[in-house]
Amino acid sequence: NNNELSVTDRLHEVCILLKENVSYYDWVGFYFKNGDKEELKLRTYAGLETDHEIIPFGKGICGQVALSNENFVVPDVKAQDNYIACSIDVKSEIVIPLFKDGKNIGQIDIDSDTADPFTEKDERFLEFINQEVAKIL
Ligand code: SME
Repeated sequence: NNNELSVTDRLHEVCILLKENVSYYDWVGFYFKNGDKEELKLRTYAGLETDHEIIPFGKGICGQVALSNENFVVPDVKAQDNYIACSIDVKSEIVIPLFKDGKNIGQIDIDSDTADPFTEKDERFLEFINQEVAKIL
């Protein structure tokens, strides 16, 4: 019964669903603002374990999106100077901010082992996912 799942369990199910159904989504996770701190905290993910459970605002692709409130599509992570590497296999990344009541409270972060796979369709699709997720937060 899905109603018995916690919010974190549900978010984890979303991560698994996305990773398993989109061939070039190799790591899918949700970060949220960590209380009153100017940092992001990893809530749940599907994919390889990461060292980056906490990311200060401004650091890496994720930390930049926490401040910009804008989608960040990275076709080639090697071309980024403010980037935090999780795995040497990752070639590209997409981060879409998650808004609740108009406030940027977190984000979905997706890494890909494929070069330059993300299109505007991914942006629109993941914006929709985040809008749906915001309803259960
Ligand atoms: N690459 C991210 C860090 C998080 S990992 O991808 C899970 C970044 O540069 O912010």
